[in-house]
Amino acid sequence: RIAGPCSMVMFGVTGDLARKKLMPAIYDLANRGLLPPGFSLVGFARREWADQDFAQVVEDAVRAHARTPFRPEVWRALAEGFRFVPGAFDDEAAFADLARTVEELDRERGTGGNHAFYLSIPPDWFATVCSQLQASGLSDPQPGTWRRVVIEKPFGHDLESAQELNQIVEEVFPADSIFRIDHYLGKETVQNILALRFANQMFEPIWNSHYVDHVQITMAEDIGIGGRAGYYDTVGAARDVIQNHLLQLLALTAMEAPIAFTADAVRNEKEKVLASVRLFDDLDASTCRGQYTTGWQGDQHVEGYLQEDGVRKGSATETYAAMKVEVHTRRWAGVPFYLRTGKRLGKRVTEIAVMLKRAPHLPFTDTATEELGQNAVVIRVQPDEGVTMRFGSKVPGSQMEVRDVSMDFGYGVSFTESSPEAYERLILDVLLGEPPLFPRHEEVELSWRILDPIIDHWERSDMLPHDYVAGTWGPDAADELMRRDGREWRLP
Ligand code: BG6
Repeated sequence: RIAGPCSMVMFGVTGDLARKKLMPAIYDLANRGLLPPGFSLVGFARREWADQDFAQVVEDAVRAHARTPFRPEVWRALAEGFRFVPGAFDDEAAFADLARTVEELDRERGTGGNHAFYLSIPPDWFATVCSQLQASGLSDPQPGTWRRVVIEKPFGHDLESAQELNQIVEEVFPADSIFRIDHYLGKETVQNILALRFANQMFEPIWNSHYVDHVQITMAEDIGIGGRAGYYDTVGAARDVIQNHLLQLLALTAMEAPIAFTADAVRNEKEKVLASVRLFDDLDASTCRGQYTTGWQGDQHVEGYLQEDGVRKGSATETYAAMKVEVHTRRWAGVPFYLRTGKRLGKRVTEIAVMLKRAPHLPFTDTATEELGQNAVVIRVQPDEGVTMRFGSKVPGSQMEVRDVSMDFGYGVSFTESSPEAYERLILDVLLGEPPLFPRHEEVELSWRILDPIIDHWERSDMLPHDYVAGTWGPDAADELMRRDGREWRLP
């Protein structure tokens, strides 16, 4: 699917995300032949740059981070459509310039009046930029053309601010022109959750409280906060990734089959799950937060969170969060869902482990089954993308002895097709006007409804986050949370 005539206007072109993900993704799309002829990219920022300076910034980003090889002829054709408009977000004259630039593109490059505005900027500026887009007429499409807005998380800081934000954006753009990016939904392995569950017959019969003991959703990162202290220290792990990525994974894992693979059908089912998530009464026992201290990441010595540049002195921001929740539906009643995430953990891995109950009766001796664990279906989201099934098998020999084994499906082995980067897929969907992979505002608000009481509880408590040494698997308190339930975290 190739996008029709259009351009993308990018706000926040000097940021990390634009440089590491967005610009390379646009080049990769061009390189795969998925952008329309005449596609144009307009950068908007407070810099005295000419178009060529902007092109140089994009080129550096592409050379450093694109997934596909640098091909000079593709690059040259793409770069002809680069424009830069200098200005501040509250500068009316700059938006008038932007409107003129966009009209020129329609005339000169055939962008057809179709323009997407990518707000890769701090949410405090969303309202200003949206009203400038409105005042300058940029948000208003002529009949038969489109204008879309793309917003990046964080979608607010809590339920109230998310509601305000949604209201502001929806005053300017109709709901179906707003694309909220949760880049996890752009990952192949995340989209595969629905294929695995609903294109097959073998998983759904066991995907419920009769067979499932509990579910563990892990998003572990080995990196620290890099240069992002300014953002991260005001946000913390729960707001940064549980509110969005992890709760989206939970929704996809727990939802009922949609009646069709359409945006509304899928989002309706996800919303039902998010609306049925319940916390446990004792939040001290069912949640845990941590902060990394100095340690080792492999053979690299790394600073603790409080020593990172830009982190407030004595900051109580969590870099690790774990929580146990329940999904109150007939399918899942009584099955705990454990979510955990952290920076500077043992390794980078995201997975969903559906842990099955033990067989109700074992016709073998206790010693024969000593090494038999729980059966599991593990969706390996990244980095080693695939699915693992864990089950017991007879150990070869004259004795009956059963031991856990794994059966693996790996993307690299089973498919010759390469996976597009999440942002590539999502940017293409924006240009195509395909909404299924973008959360609706209801999902965003429901997710805050789940998280707000936990964060409130943490903020009100005088207990600081538990320490954990960088390079380990999080604070002891998180293991304790599991142990109290007679369970343990999987070591991915
Ligand atoms: C972002 C978070 O949404 O996801 C980052 O803000 C995190 O803190 C990143 O590092 C992880 O993304 P991925 O795709 O590398 O798992």
